Order: sequence, then C-alpha cells, then structure tokens
Amino acid sequence: MSPTTPRQFRIAPSILSADFARLGDEVHSVIAAGADWIHFDVMDNHYVPNLTFGPMICEALRSHAQKPDGAPVPIDVHLMVQPVDALAAAFADAGADQISFHADAGPHVHRSVQAIKDKGCRAGLVFNPAASLDVLDWMIDDIDLILLMSVNPGFGGQSFIESVLRRIEAVRKRIDASGRDIRLEVDGGIKLENIARVAAAGADTFVAGSAIFGKPDYKGTIAAMRAELAKAQGA
Ligand code: DX5
Ligand code: ZN
Repeated sequence: MSPTTPRQFRIAPSILSADFARLGDEVHSVIAAGADWIHFDVMDNHYVPNLTFGPMICEALRSHAQKPDGAPVPIDVHLMVQPVDALAAAFADAGADQISFHADAGPHVHRSVQAIKDKGCRAGLVFNPAASLDVLDWMIDDIDLILLMSVNPGFGGQSFIESVLRRIEAVRKRIDASGRDIRLEVDGGIKLENIARVAAAGADTFVAGSAIFGKPDYKGTIAAMRAELAKAQGA
C-alpha cells in the first residue's frame, strides 16, 4: 500500500457475537472501546440457515449507538434475507444508517439499491465467497459500500477463506477505477492475526464478531487491531 494514499480504516464489531441478554450495554461498551460502526447481522432462516434479529431490535438499539459525547455511530445493517425490499424499508424506518443486501438474493438489484437510497440510507451490495462480481459492472456507480464475505454467511466464529484476498484485490481495483468513494468491507473470520493482510489486499472496513466479543478486553483488542492496520498502512 502506498504511504501517499492513506486509507481511512474502520472497525465494525458484529453484535452477532455479543451477549444478547445485555445488548444495549454491549453496544455502549464496544463503542467506548473504539468501534467505528455497529455491524448488525440480519438472518432469516431462509437465505441463510440461522435466525437473528429484526427491525424492532435495531430501533431499540438506535439510541444506544452513540459516543459518550452524543455523536451517532452508524448502524451497519447486513441483510442475509430473501426477499430483500420489505425488510430493507423496515430497517431504514428503524434507524439504520446503511443497508447492504446480497446481490444474489433478489431479482431487481438496481431497484432495491434505489429504494434504500430513497429512504436516505447508504446502500451496499454483499457477495458470498464464490459469488460472481459481474453485477458491479452495472452497479458500481450507484452504491456506497461493497461487502465481501470471507466466510459462508450464517454463523460467527468461522475461519477466514484465503481465496477472498484475491477478490478484495479485484474489487479494490474496480473501486479505484470508478473514482467513487465506496467503502470496501470484509466480513468473516477477521482476527488480529490476519487483519493486516486483509488491509494490504485493499479492504478499508473490517467486521469482527468473535474476535472482539470473544475477548474480555474490547478496548485492548480494537487497539491491537488498529496497531496491525497501522503496520499495513506503513508497509
Ligand atoms: C456471518 C456474519 C458475520 C459474522 C462475523 O454471517 O455476517 O458478520 O458475525 O463473525 P466472526 O467475526 O466471528 O467471523
Ligand atoms: Zn455480517
């Protein structure tokens, strides 16, 4: 990575690995520890074989997703659902700041992106580890975020799929060629041990569930991740 093109890195803890019985407190704690975004994994037991939380939980957490000085922290909704549009609208109404959905989850990708943006949210497309990226040929000028899955969606605590590093490099090239300000987020199996390599491949935003919530010291873990990212930036 060239030192002349510093990338602004963001860490997005996934509350999928938080203590659900204390979700508001967990959101406060992880923000106090330095989280940039709160990653909110929505699973429907249809597109993925698991079931998590819906718009009512998002609405309940909205007022908790703020820094101690009151500055809001973006809620980053990752929809693993099919169909997409009705739930995307419900999450926009529930206070989501950005909403991403899997490009293969619905027949009208462009319409879904426009509907999310019309609600005032940033829109993202998600790609499973072996999904074709061709839709980006037609959608890159319309989206704010690209989320590359580095595990098969549905569960936290899985291992990072190494071949995704090449996909990150390919998407970074597409984003740079577009000249647009698009976040490149990677989700699944991100740990202290691999975050620098993921950054070096071109990612700027890192979802981490078990790596953060599985440790007692959220602040120390996020600080250690940032130290790894600083090394990647300087390399
Ligand atoms: C998987 C989810 C991820 C998951 C990441 O379907 O989209 O956000 O929570 O968890 P870890 O970091 O534990 O792999
Ligand atoms: Zn996710």
